[in-house]
Amino acid sequence: MPDQFIKTAKTDRRSFLWIMGALLLGAAAATGNAVIRYLMPPQKPKSAKELSIPTAQIPPGSSLIVEYRGSPVILVNSGGGISAFSAVCTHLGCVVKWVSGEKIFYCPCHAGKFDLSGKVTAGPPPEPLHKIDIEVTDGIITFI
Ligand code: FES
Repeated sequence: MPDQFIKTAKTDRRSFLWIMGALLLGAAAATGNAVIRYLMPPQKPKSAKELSIPTAQIPPGSSLIVEYRGSPVILVNSGGGISAFSAVCTHLGCVVKWVSGEKIFYCPCHAGKFDLSGKVTAGPPPEPLHKIDIEVTDGIITFI
């Protein structure tokens, strides 16, 4: 066999081993990262008192969507007080919005409608919006 052929074959084999080693190292790093993330305890959800909102941010007739414990919550000032509901539609999970003129929560995905108490008034949602307990003290809304 010619020397040139043997040298090329050894070089190719060495390159192949380097590439395989690098790929295995990358796979091990990715797997290790996934295992470490799986074993780490989840972050604690924010405690109820960590989220406080001035009532001035929600004038009568308006709404505000905030994230609370990892989910959107909609706060509404209907003019008769401030109430809070999970903004996640009970049908397929779209985010509802407040329609001030009709005083309803409206889900744009399948035209689900909820009244001011969260009760379903139209569309496919199977359950009312989930009410979130809040407290208003000295113009500050806190989640309880
Ligand atoms: Fe809201 Fe379907 S997701 S009506």
